[in-house]
Formats: sequence, C-alpha cells, structure tokens
Amino acid sequence: MIIRLEEENDVKEREQLLDAVMGPHRKRKSSEKLRRGRMPSAGLAFSGIANDGHLIGTVRLWDIELDHDEEGIRNALLLGPLAVSCSHHGSGVGSQLMRTAIRSAALLGHGAIILVGNPAYYGRFGFSNELTGKIAMPGPFERERFLALELTAEHLSGCSGIIRPNGRYRRAIKVANCVSKVALAS
Ligand SMILES: CC(C)(COP(=O)(O)OP(=O)(O)OC[C@H]1O[C@@H](n2cnc3c(N)ncnc32)[C@H](O)[C@@H]1OP(=O)(O)O)[C@@H](O)C(=O)NCCC(=O)NCCS
Repeated sequence: MIIRLEEENDVKEREQLLDAVMGPHRKRKSSEKLRRGRMPSAGLAFSGIANDGHLIGTVRLWDIELDHDEEGIRNALLLGPLAVSCSHHGSGVGSQLMRTAIRSAALLGHGAIILVGNPAYYGRFGFSNELTGKIAMPGPFERERFLALELTAEHLSGCSGIIRPNGRYRRAIKVANCVSKVALAS
C-alpha cells in the first residue's frame, strides 16, 4: 500500500468507497456544510492505494476559520472524512493516512486540526475534546466526539464560536483551470 496525494481520477473510487463505508446519509452531516462547494486545503487530500492499484483509503482536510478574541479570525483545518475500505479495516491504513495528514498539515504551517469522530480512535493521534469547549459545528454534533489537535501550541486558545468554511471554491478553480487551458492552447 502507498499513500499519495489525491488525484483527479480518484474521484469515482473515492465516492464509491465513502458510500460503502459511511452509508447513504453521509452528506447530511454538519461537517458537510463546511465542505460543500469547496476544495480541500491545498496539498492536504490523500489516497491510500493498494498494490493492485485500487483506492482503499481516503482522508481530506479543509480550510476553516474561527472567531479569535485578539486577532478577530484564526484559521484551522477540519479533517474528514477518513475512511478505509471494509476489506482492509484493521491493517493500519487509517493510521497511516492520519499520520500523513497530520505531518503534512504541520509542515505546511497549519496550527490546528478539528474533527468529529470517535475519541477511542482519534485519541491515539493526540486528539481530544479538551480544546473544543468554546467552539461549535454549524449544525448538530456530539460534544464528546468534537475533537482537536494543536500543531502549534495554544493555537486554539482564544478561539470561540461556530466554525466557518474559508477554503477555495470548487467552481472558481474549475473556471481558472479552463482559462489556463485556453491560454496554453493559444
Ligand atoms: C475508522 C477507520 C478509518 C479506521 O481505519 P483502519 O485502517 O481500520 O484502522 P487502523 O488499522 O489504522 O487501526 C486499527 C485500530 O483502530 C481501532 N478502530 C477502528 N475503528 C474504530 C472506531 N470507529 N472507533 C474506535 N476504534 C476504532 C481498531 O479497534 C484498532 O485498534 P487497535 O490498534 O487497538 O487494535 C475505518 O475503520 C473506517 O473507515 N471506518 C468507517 C468510517 C469511519 O468511521 N470513519 C471515521 C469517522 S470520519
């Protein structure tokens, strides 16, 4: 298995994997409000690829912002979904995706990662709900599953309020790519 940056032609297999692993209601989650119409954070979408070339795992991180009592706004990342194909559960793919995502986010200079997930799983990567007491998702969520990891000390101190998306718009990227293709062809 290798982990690499997500590619455009991973989309079909990724969506099939997410439907199979997370079920048909996955797009009703509050996290989806922070992802809809946006691109993942630059350089922070990864695919796990099996030896036979099939996609067996996916994780993506998204740019978000929070109110901050001194700076006005502070940026962070939302992680999810993380999913591994059922046939490969328990073989370390999820952990490798998580470690790659966390390491890459730190190298890119991000200060914190927030997610909604099982503390029994995410705790092993350093996530806890001790940092999320003053912040909230834009919709229903369970507080005990609302977790964060600081990549820079105190990054979430002074943050409060409801998380907002601030990632690049998917449509703007498509238009920009079309313009570039026209420019290259002319
Ligand atoms: C959660 C998930 C990503 C883990 O990936 P994985 O490759 O199976 O996990 P790993 O092999 O890296 O780790 C296995 C360990 O995680 C534990 N684990 C797996 N899923 C877990 C869960 N939902 N809650 C708590 N622990 C879990 C296993 O018990 C095992 O524990 P051990 O190391 O003490 O034996 C995968 O099971 C999955 O896709 N689940 C469905 C989707 C999901 O729930 N995603 C997370 C919410 S966004």
